[in-house]
Amino acid sequence: RSVGIGRAHAKAILLGEHAVVYGTPALALPIPQLTATASAGWSSHVPDGQGDLSFTMTGSASRAVVTQASEGLRRLTTAFRTRMGVADRPHLDVILDGAIPPGRGLGSSAANSRAIILALADLFGRELTDGTAFELVQAAENVTHGRASGVDAMTVGAAGPLRFQAGVATELSIGCDGLFIIADSGTAGSTREAVELLRAGFVRESGAEERFLRRATELIEEAEQALAEGAEKELGARLTDYHELLRAAGLSTDRIDAMVAAALRAGSLGAKITGGGLGGCVLAMTQPEHARQVAAQLHEAGAVQTWVVPLRRLAAHA
Ligand code: PMV
Repeated sequence: RSVGIGRAHAKAILLGEHAVVYGTPALALPIPQLTATASAGWSSHVPDGQGDLSFTMTGSASRAVVTQASEGLRRLTTAFRTRMGVADRPHLDVILDGAIPPGRGLGSSAANSRAIILALADLFGRELTDGTAFELVQAAENVTHGRASGVDAMTVGAAGPLRFQAGVATELSIGCDGLFIIADSGTAGSTREAVELLRAGFVRESGAEERFLRRATELIEEAEQALAEGAEKELGARLTDYHELLRAAGLSTDRIDAMVAAALRAGSLGAKITGGGLGGCVLAMTQPEHARQVAAQLHEAGAVQTWVVPLRRLAAHA
């Protein structure tokens, strides 16, 4: 094969971001309409200063994103060489079309890594098991985020909504209808900085970690039950409560808070920041009849882009 192709989708965390780094569960959704695509081919030239790989980026992927992903890529090419007994280091060209905006809590780094890794597997004609693909994406994520829980690496390859805890994903049962509107605040936040900020707060204030995790666990468990039972109002309320928990920990921004308030005023059942924070996206749950108004108010409050993820379509996707 002369070209390998790989694709992966974005993700949104419904509930449990940050707490999941400390071992509690997180509930996460794939965003099938937002994808990263990578093509890998043999290179005819020796790239400068990049080892045995050369990257071209189109779309929203920045050089920093790809540099960070390249660690996972190096591991993969090394693994391939070992297994295939290839002594030469093959020179590769990788083209990444990353349509997922970076730093918005949508898992762009994990999706880009997964797309690249799948493209390489395709090029080398190797079957990657789910476990190996997860492991390689997670290795790249640990380079990018410091200490990543694995929820991103898992969800960017998942067919449907999932519950993730300590490296294990299980299918989420969905009894709710309704839509999630994901709204981009237009400002990127560093997940690594956000994770460090929370940890620093825990170190400074005794008992803060325990309080945060206890409250997070309570909300996640209630939300999981509401999601399964079709209790939409209850689920919405837990989303807003979780936003309050993250906001109190210093992980929101003024614009995100304004967007959350605007979504609630427009009839949203619940709204919160999603992902690492310090910028990024708001996730608002709404019934279809209020969706237009919620999206309009989110734009009014500063959103630069919105995506609609219908819960039923996600469940059907799985
Ligand atoms: O910002 P994102 O999309 O990378 O989401 C990060 C989720 C965190 O819980 C904050 C970190 C993690 O490793 O789980």
